[in-house]
Amino acid sequence: MSNKRPTWTSKYSFILAAIGSAVGLGNIWRFPYVMGQNGGCVFLITYMFFILTICFIPMVTEILFGKITKKECVGAFEHANKKCKYLSYLNPVTAVLVPSFYFVIGGWIIHYIIISFIGFKSKNPSVYLSEFVQNPILAPICTLIFLFICIFFTARGIKKGIEFINNVMMPMLVVMLVILTIASLHLPNSYLGLQYIFKPDFTKFNSHMLLAALGQAFFTLSVGMGSLLTYGSYIKEDKSIVKTAYTIVFSSLIFSLLAGMMIFPAVFSFNLAPDAGAGLVFVTLPKVFMQIPHGNFVATVFFILLFCAAITSGISMLEVPCATIVERIKLSRIKACLFLFVIIALIAIPATLSFGILGDIKIFDKTIFELIDFITSNIFLPLNTLFMCFVAGWFLNVNGDMIFKNRVLVNVFNIGLKYVVPLILIFLIYIGLK
Ligand code: PHE
Repeated sequence: MSNKRPTWTSKYSFILAAIGSAVGLGNIWRFPYVMGQNGGCVFLITYMFFILTICFIPMVTEILFGKITKKECVGAFEHANKKCKYLSYLNPVTAVLVPSFYFVIGGWIIHYIIISFIGFKSKNPSVYLSEFVQNPILAPICTLIFLFICIFFTARGIKKGIEFINNVMMPMLVVMLVILTIASLHLPNSYLGLQYIFKPDFTKFNSHMLLAALGQAFFTLSVGMGSLLTYGSYIKEDKSIVKTAYTIVFSSLIFSLLAGMMIFPAVFSFNLAPDAGAGLVFVTLPKVFMQIPHGNFVATVFFILLFCAAITSGISMLEVPCATIVERIKLSRIKACLFLFVIIALIAIPATLSFGILGDIKIFDKTIFELIDFITSNIFLPLNTLFMCFVAGWFLNVNGDMIFKNRVLVNVFNIGLKYVVPLILIFLIYIGLK
């Protein structure tokens, strides 16, 4: 095995892969439903504010962390300070736990691609979803297929795996999203959906909405798990990354907006509720698909779109523990991926079954799926981000000068990295634990 670290073929490969990581279920499945539950436009404005300010700082820092150290997560923290390596192991651990619930939804998507292709039976979509998620054989098989696909492309390496899949899937994702959004905007009364997204109702502003928007912003930018750090460590050229960072942020924003503009006009056009929660995409939208011309075809395209978004993000998660195992334990990529397949399967299968036969197992009043989601989203992701900002700001001397030329922006960045963002994160962890 050669010891040479892989690098991106070109600067664009990195940008595309980072956008692929950022744009995922968080934008297309989670964003519309969290927005639906939190008052529409006010949520959107708050989310945009966070993504462009508070979350931008750790995102750039994470990429810089990798770019400067040129090491996988644990090695990168060790490079900054020997003692820091211990807590940094939480990054690959998080990147094993998050896929264990993210891929459950990936499995649902695979099932929905197949059933939309075959044709939705005239069954109530909520009954359909609950029957599927409770199926003790089919649901875990779908999760495992999704896991296998992600592992397969991760095992193929940077060029043949990650770059390849992003080069193929990202353009497909854009084309499908634009076509479906245009189609949705042509439905009768679609303006009601647009009004919901773009007409603010400031009475909906509250602290719960604020926190939901902040959490959503961190998640959609892929901060806090080491994915951007690991991807950043494969950058070879020494150019500034500020344009790259803006490209990632704006792409994530545009994808979220398009997802909203694709989903809400359709939902309002058929007089359905926008606040259906996690079932918005799997229950509410199928109700739309059952009523429009060529509904099965549109549904198949929609779920393939969701699949592409989920795969490119999933691979960016797996790259974190994979790189750590390869570079620290010196296993080959294939063996590292086989090992990860087994470990993630062992956690993801119970998580899948927690919608059915394992539903009664409750830890702290939460099912296995909810518990993994809760621990990672509310504690591990903000904790990793906090630690990363702390080490980057105080030990690695990441500085606004590396990004901006403008003095004011440099100072804002430095104060943000060293004080403001860590304080907000501590607050977020505190609220998350309450
Ligand atoms: N940003 C991805 C999404 O929105 C999720 C993700 C989080 C991916 C953290 C990698 C790291 O779906």
